[in-house]
Amino acid sequence: MGIIDLSRDAAILHYITTDDPAEAAALYAAAREVREEQYGRDVYFRGLIEFTNYCKNDCYYCGIRHGNRNAERYRLTTEQILYCCQMGDMLGYRSFVLQGGEDPWFTDDRITEMVEAIRRKYPEHAITLSIGERKRESYERFFRAGANRYLLRHETANDEHYRKLHPAVLSLVERKDCLFALRDIGYQVGAGFMVGTPYQTPECLLEDLRFLEELDPHMVGIGPFIPQGDTPFGSRPGGSLEQTLRMLALTRLLLPKTLLPATTALGTINPLGRELGLLAGANVVMPNLSPKAVRKLYALYDNKICTGDEAAECRFCMEGRIRDYGFIPEMSRGDSRVEFAVPAFKGSPDP
Ligand code: 5AD
Ligand code: FES
Repeated sequence: MGIIDLSRDAAILHYITTDDPAEAAALYAAAREVREEQYGRDVYFRGLIEFTNYCKNDCYYCGIRHGNRNAERYRLTTEQILYCCQMGDMLGYRSFVLQGGEDPWFTDDRITEMVEAIRRKYPEHAITLSIGERKRESYERFFRAGANRYLLRHETANDEHYRKLHPAVLSLVERKDCLFALRDIGYQVGAGFMVGTPYQTPECLLEDLRFLEELDPHMVGIGPFIPQGDTPFGSRPGGSLEQTLRMLALTRLLLPKTLLPATTALGTINPLGRELGLLAGANVVMPNLSPKAVRKLYALYDNKICTGDEAAECRFCMEGRIRDYGFIPEMSRGDSRVEFAVPAFKGSPDP
């Protein structure tokens, strides 16, 4: 592209904050070009199964935080989870994401059993866990049981900011340790952050990008912060569409090979948010496979889209939207082009 030089911090800060539509458009175009070089026009599908909304943590932004007495809690049984996988498989998904709060009921034994059960039925599928911070040994166990990917957003790479978003028992150092351990074990790792959280500055976002360059994750989840009424940040303003798109594009330019989802949160703040995300360099979508009965309850933020839709509706709705914008739905496992560690022990690495 040539015109966009991101070698200096000042240049990145400029693009983080620019409100010049022409500059933003150039940024998106450059990101699209890099995305095409790396992944063509394919958009990878992952089926998201939100299997528990119990959480022991109290993150100030999150609707399923422990302290939210208004949250109606649920946990799916192994049978329900396997049923979601079966539905997903029938709809063509080859990649399942098991996401939940940090739910102590799901001990390492129970998570291991769940992963083993899915792996037995689906030997070739990608199994992704997104269940927060655990000990390295636990991550190793899940990996041996057949999990091959792990999503754990770092949320913010600035220590002071991290402490403004989380209670003192949570720390950025531990979050980062988890991410490096996961990468080291051999998982394909997803980090990421929210755009527009309270107290976030452009410098925080720059640190996010610099941290991502250091970690070199296989995937980066970026979505706008959206207030949830029952949380301490319930009446704060949310993140903007434009800034989220700029952060997606910058991430694509700085980490060309990473997988970049156009998130549900982005689709929530704008009806075409996900499409615009794809046009700013994103190349993954994660439609919901959770049972319709519990979807509304996995309320990290207010007004979440697709909570009234069946898995099949989202699958085909997303396919249509993607095609309308000139992209190609791709149902394979969709492995990242970022290299991953060769596991030190026998596990279930990606091919
Ligand atoms: N708005 C947007 N995203 C949120 N998340 C949690 N709460 C919110 C919110 N209020 C994101 C966090 C978490 C991911 C699962 O959802 O980044 O890592
Ligand atoms: Fe869920 Fe469109 S993606 S209905």
